[in-house]
Formats: sequence, structure tokens, C-alpha cells
Amino acid sequence: MSARIAGAVVVRGGEVVSATGTRRADVLVGDGIVQTIEESLEAPSGALVLDAGGCLVAPALVDLHTHLREPGAEQAETVESGSRAAALGGYSAVVAMPNTTPAIDCASVVRDVRALAETALVDVAVAGAITVGRAGERLVPFAELAGLGVRLFTDDGTGVQDAALLRRALEYAGDLGVILAEHCEDASLAKGGLMHEGSWSSRLGVPGQPALAEEAMLARDLALVRLTGTPMHFLHLSTAGSMRLFAAARAEGLPVTAEVTPHHLSLTDAELASFDPLFKVNPPLRGEDDVAALRRACADGLIDAIATDHAPHPQEAKEAPLEDAPPGMLGLETALSVAWEALVAPGHVSAARLFSLLSGQPARIAGLESSHGGPIAPGRPAQLCVFDPAERVLVEPERLASRSANTPFAGRSLTGKVRHTLVHGEPVVIDGKAQR
Ligand code: DOR
Repeated sequence: MSARIAGAVVVRGGEVVSATGTRRADVLVGDGIVQTIEESLEAPSGALVLDAGGCLVAPALVDLHTHLREPGAEQAETVESGSRAAALGGYSAVVAMPNTTPAIDCASVVRDVRALAETALVDVAVAGAITVGRAGERLVPFAELAGLGVRLFTDDGTGVQDAALLRRALEYAGDLGVILAEHCEDASLAKGGLMHEGSWSSRLGVPGQPALAEEAMLARDLALVRLTGTPMHFLHLSTAGSMRLFAAARAEGLPVTAEVTPHHLSLTDAELASFDPLFKVNPPLRGEDDVAALRRACADGLIDAIATDHAPHPQEAKEAPLEDAPPGMLGLETALSVAWEALVAPGHVSAARLFSLLSGQPARIAGLESSHGGPIAPGRPAQLCVFDPAERVLVEPERLASRSANTPFAGRSLTGKVRHTLVHGEPVVIDGKAQR
């Protein structure tokens, strides 16, 4: 989607979020950018006035990890439906994961997805695969894809099992200035595991996936970053052990970044006691100690970003028995509320820090910081998320914008509601309703 020229909009009466805190102010938006921020603004004639009373006016969110399913699984999601879900969730940009059918591993598929994204409600940055067909055998044409502006490469859904191949990929990535993003999962250790291996898997008699499946690959990859000096991003880290490994890598000065998901910050493997495939996800929901370690890592600045891993699946697929159902859960429309409940409500992080985890920092990792992720300042592109933390929203799967309904939060009342979302100055969500 290219920048749009929008008419004047005044976002009135909210608390504007900056890196250091919040302040009460009105925001005038026009021509796609923030024009002025003042304590009390006169609306220009003809301007649309959006009420932000009681709300935080924050930089719109940026998702590093969205499965839009197009091409190939349009029954689950499309670029259009996924981008609508993103806008309703307060996002102005998402990174589309390449585990589509065919995979996004060559120039033509990159162009196809970008063409679909031209009319999307939010900006869509396309990620490329690391290996052709995500088969883990041959590298994609990195230089050609980097030349098209692809910035992030990942075989997400699986990890790159072959260490020598990943070493070579890191060498290319270093030369080209692109980022590899790893889904840490050693296939031999994870094989057959339907949930986290721990006391709940033993009690339920369900085959488990050990924390070591994630941690062994993370340790290997950190060693490869040390060897090559190439920056790397780690997707959806989920264990206390991963937090320890990652903290040591950061202390050593390795050029690494990491994300966690809202579901790993809020749910545990105890949910699998229902045997409900809605709670089946990779990496699996972990134990209480892991959740606590992830929350601490968000609070102390170790973790860079919260990313959704929005993974739509058709209802029939998620109604299959646990062993046959695909892993994954929706995230875009609930991420902000779930992360708020996990981190801000219990006092682990400030609202400003939460928005930095969901917006500014992921924008930088995705290379989108010139147009997304704030700060909210005159002259900056107007990507705004107006969020009311005092509202509550009941999650009704059938009412979500996503084509799929596989949310683990179905029937729960969550804290906070996205009231308005502005993308390049255009109000794409007003009073909780998508405008097109
Ligand atoms: O649970 C997951 N589902 N984890 C992934 O890494 C991939 C995702 C999907 O594409 O469904």
C-alpha cells in the first residue's frame, strides 16, 4: 500500500504516548502526517474529529509475524481479511510470513503478494523464505530478493535444521544487510510432540515437545551469529532457558533481537487439559515458570518485541483430534489487550514500554522505522492507535474480521479496546469499526 493523502483529522482528548510517558494533547493529522500536537486544538473546518477521551493515543502497532495465508490457503485468511484484522487490532503494518503455498521464495511470489497488498488496510511487508520451498535444502536467491527490498527472511513454521546451510545463509545475509529470523525448533527433539513436555503432558498422556527442542537450536544459532558476526532475529521464544541463553548472548554483545508472543505471555500448558486443538501451537504453550520468565524479560528490556504469530486455520482443521490438528492461533485482534493484561495490568511494564514492544522496536527490526512505529511528532507519518484501556471486549470468534475463528480467547472478556486506527493519516478504524 502506498502513502495515502487523507483529509484533516483531529484526534481529540487523549493521552499521547511517547517513549518516556504520556501527556494530554490533541493531534491534528493531514496529508498523511502529524501536523501539530497541542494541549487544545481548534479543528480546521471540514476536519473529521475523533473522540479519544479516556484513551491512549499511541503509535500504531507493527507486527513482525503475521500469517496472511495468501497464496494458497485463502479459506483460512487473505491479505485483505488479515489486514482488516490487523487494523482492528491497532496495527498500521504487518510482516507477512512466507510459509504460503507456494512459499514466498522467489521474486514472482514476492510481487504477487505485494500486488494483493496494494489495497490492504495496513502496510504489508513481505518476508522471504530462507530455503527454497522451506525444504531446508537450497538457499533462496537472497541477492535478487534483497534487491526487491525484502528485508526479513525466515523458514518460520520450521527451523533451518542444517547448520552448515544456515551458516552460509548468514554469510549472504551479512553481505546484503538483510535479517534472518529463526523459528527455533530442532525437528529431531520436537518430533511427535503435541504440547510442551512437562508435568501436564505426563498427566494427560500426550506426547510432549521438550523445551530443549527450542533451546538447542537457539544455542546453535547464537554460536553461528558469533562465528559470522551477522545479526539475527529470534521468533516466538517461549522458555525460561531461552531467556537465559538470550541474556548471555546480549551480555556478550552479539547482534541479536528476539520476540515473544501474547499467547506465550498469558497462557500455560494447563490449557491442554481440555485436549482442545485451539491451544495447540508451535512453540507449545509452556509452564508457569516460563511465562514468568518471559514477562520479566519484557520488563527488563531483554526482549525487543511482542509479535502475534497470527496463524489462522480453518474450523474443520482445528476441530480434528489433537494429533491431526495444525498448530497455530489467531492473534491480531486480541494482541494489545492480551499483552496489556499480561504486562501493564500487573505492573510489570508501563503503557509507554508496552507500545514500544508492540510498535517502535518491531518497526526497527522490520526496517519500517521511517514510516511506522512512532514517535508521534509533527512531520512524522500519521500511524495512530487510539486505545481505551478502561473498556472490556468479549471475544466472539464469529465476529472477528479474520476468515478463521481459532482464537484461544473465545468467550473471554479482555481488557481494553482499540477505538480508532489511522494508517498514513486515514482513519481505517473508527469507533471499533473497519471503514472499508
Ligand atoms: O503454531 C504455529 N503455527 N507456529 C508456527 O511457527 C507456524 C504457524 C502456522 O503457520 O500455522
